[in-house]
Amino acid sequence: MGNKTDRLIALAEKHGAHNYHPLPVALSRAKGVYVWDVEGKKYFDFLSAYSAINQGHNHPNIVAAAKSQLGRVALTSRAFHNDQLGPFLELLTKTTGKERALPMNSGAEAVETAIKAMRLWGYRKKGIPDGKAEIIVCAENFHGRTTTIVGFSSDPDSSSGFGPATPGFRTIPYGNAAALERAITANTAGFLFEPVQGEAGVILPPEGWLSAVRQICSENNVLMCADEIQTGLGRTGKLFACDHEEVVPDLYILGKALSGGFIRSPRCAPATRSSACSRRAPTARPSAARRWLPRSGPPPCA
Ligand SMILES: Cc1ncc(COP(=O)(O)O)c(C=O)c1O
Repeated sequence: MGNKTDRLIALAEKHGAHNYHPLPVALSRAKGVYVWDVEGKKYFDFLSAYSAINQGHNHPNIVAAAKSQLGRVALTSRAFHNDQLGPFLELLTKTTGKERALPMNSGAEAVETAIKAMRLWGYRKKGIPDGKAEIIVCAENFHGRTTTIVGFSSDPDSSSGFGPATPGFRTIPYGNAAALERAITANTAGFLFEPVQGEAGVILPPEGWLSAVRQICSENNVLMCADEIQTGLGRTGKLFACDHEEVVPDLYILGKALSGGFIRSPRCAPATRSSACSRRAPTARPSAARRWLPRSGPPPCA
């Protein structure tokens, strides 16, 4: 390590929360697949910010679009329409084959929104008694770091010290279709899973598992919710990891690469194929999840 690197690391260690333990390299420049540290050393970036940089660092088309947008308007609020949101949502829903999408600010926030949507669907459409909705998750999952999400993590590094955990989650072993079937009750609203588990060590599910999950969810009127934040948008060689078994979940949760490599975590949780609620609340800030629920009945992709 050089002097500059040492100084920068010391500053971050002194003034930042110790929630990450990065490698002892301080980056200052990037282009395509390469990054350079403050000492001028060049590296291949094999990490790609966990897939947030799938397009490569500073893709010139994305840089040009961002600069042009910043020169016109950087921020509006949801109190107004703007000339970007509609076209973005149209492209995203066409890409995912879903009817509606909801952009959020981080992957964890998108997962939280999907959880809300599944619970609400459970109460409004499946008839689960209020407060009783259950969501099934997998052991060794990683879905983010908010309080609710770490509450159903099986990794003590993520969860310990942050209790009490939010109730309403059941954990099953990853890749085990029989366990999923056994865990489903009349109060199960959804199954939340990673098509490939990332933080757990890049764990591929057994062949046929995604198809089995689709079938079990459809047969039991349970929403299948694929967290494709890391696997989506080309990371596994298909547009979505679920495509490897030609499976279409009821909800995709996307993130990382969706930012074009410019904001770490703008995410979205595209909704279902069936029509969504169209209740309007123009002056209030309605719960986002409420506005893109399927209108009725069984999981829309069943
Ligand atoms: C599968 C998965 N879900 C959710 C998240 C959380 O995303 P964020 O860090 O943007 O909150 C991550 C982040 O690595 C992830 O890999």
